[in-house]
Amino acid sequence: MNYEIALVRGDGICLETVDSAVRVLERVGETSGHRFHTTPYLAGGCAIDACGVPLPEETVRGCLASDSVLLGAVGGPKWDGMPGDRRPEKALLGLRSALGLYTNLRPAKLYAPLRDSCPLRADIVAEGFDLMMVRELTGGIYFGERGRREGTYGPEAYDTEAYSVMEVERIARAAFDAARKRRRHVTSIDKANVLETSRLWRETVRRVAEEYPDVTLENMLVDNAAMQLVRRPSQFDVVVTSNMFGDILSDEASQITGSIGLLPSASLGATKRGLYEPIHGSAPDIAGQDRANPIATILSAAMMLRYSFDLTEEADRIERAVDSALADGLRTADIAAPGAPALGCRAMADAILARL
Ligand code: IPM
Ligand code: MG
Repeated sequence: MNYEIALVRGDGICLETVDSAVRVLERVGETSGHRFHTTPYLAGGCAIDACGVPLPEETVRGCLASDSVLLGAVGGPKWDGMPGDRRPEKALLGLRSALGLYTNLRPAKLYAPLRDSCPLRADIVAEGFDLMMVRELTGGIYFGERGRREGTYGPEAYDTEAYSVMEVERIARAAFDAARKRRRHVTSIDKANVLETSRLWRETVRRVAEEYPDVTLENMLVDNAAMQLVRRPSQFDVVVTSNMFGDILSDEASQITGSIGLLPSASLGATKRGLYEPIHGSAPDIAGQDRANPIATILSAAMMLRYSFDLTEEADRIERAVDSALADGLRTADIAAPGAPALGCRAMADAILARL
């Protein structure tokens, strides 16, 4: 098969990490008979520099016409002064919205060889963990009404959170479907003791749960969830939550795996077309120095094969090659023991390629 992939590298280290993932895809293509054809598009800071806007029309059109999108990350200090609607991050939000990608899957698991990089206590590390965060991605406070106005105490700003029953139902179904392929337990995270959107969220998730009698549902308040993630992460299987809570909790979940440089993500909608990106940012402080960890982007490419192209065997191969590089003790700077030698981005990608 021929697959058309829109390649949105973005800014900073992602020039390096996305190229590593493309090399992995090319190698998988050579040995499996599939062809992964990539077309580059601009988004984020580089698009602001080249065309004055973070998300050019051409990029949206190219992504819509492709079978899937591989994205790096956007942003950097150079564009921090831009007004809110022209910041590089707007490109990411615009793409998620234009492609209708309401489900964000963020798996986080502890790799056995990386136990020493986990900042948690030894008895917690010994239990390990393997969870799938399902984050709602096109609604909530990220996309609600916002603005500036004159308030009781002078000038003020506001952002609003709204969720419809339909939006909660479809993300809940995504979570329960994911749970059926795993350990059949869903933890729904909200702030139902304070927020009306959370009360609707909780009622709706509970109703959807009735369609899945084989999956257990637990509700948890977000503050407690933040605590439980570091207290006993092994209790989680699938976690489903709103856009903003998911943003915050997925960074927390990534840190207990040892490094945010390891975690991939998939953003999916009603079609097979998805957007795949590492959950880390553009890390401008180490950009261009060959010091980034390519694993999160390489694993994002594996998720693309799995979820958009149904190439399960090829996805497994990439994941096994990453496992084997880690098991052999190969480390980039973010996961190396203090003072221990570390591989650069390119060398780590080479090591993974050699194990494919
Ligand atoms: C993420 C990022 C984005 C988000 C930013 C860059 C807009 O933090 O993908 O987690 O908040 O969704
Ligand atoms: Mg985030």
